[in-house]
Amino acid sequence: MATPLPQSDPYATAVGTLYEALGGEPAVRVLVNHFYDRMDALPQFRALRDLHAADLAPMRAKLADWLSGWLGGPPRYFERPDAICIGAAHRPYVIDAALRDAWLECMAGALQDAAVPAPVVARLRPAFAALAEALRNR
Ligand code: HEM
Repeated sequence: MATPLPQSDPYATAVGTLYEALGGEPAVRVLVNHFYDRMDALPQFRALRDLHAADLAPMRAKLADWLSGWLGGPPRYFERPDAICIGAAHRPYVIDAALRDAWLECMAGALQDAAVPAPVVARLRPAFAALAEALRNR
């Protein structure tokens, strides 16, 4: 029989999630750092990079917090006082298919940089693709 989750852990539902498969909070932060390092450095992501603020540090924290909850870990983003819905966050930007694909390509590279195991990548990529498509507005 499965061991009951400790009732004292408010995030006990994180057990067995993609968040856990990825490696928890340190792994999410490593992935996000690779994502913004690539976006910042590689010329093919210039248009995507230029949509973002000059200082990417706040986005490194926000995306890591957002992914934490989305992957089934602690809902850190929605504990932030500045949290907004993901759709509303992107509405000010014109996001076409090219920008959607740039975001996805940048994330695909980050997954490689972070050496995320292939079975985990296979679960993550379609989920990212569906989300990025949902954020496309042009
Ligand atoms: C489809 C292509 C996408 C584009 C072009 C895009 C672009 C942007 C831009 C320009 C910002 C504001 C950055 C800033 O303030 O410096 C932003 C914020 C954000 N994006 Fe995206 N994004 C895309 C997809 C995604 C996806 C797929 C996710 C989640 C996996 C995501 C998660 C976030 C989050 C959490 C924020 C912060 C919202 C806030 O609290 O202000 N984005 N995005």
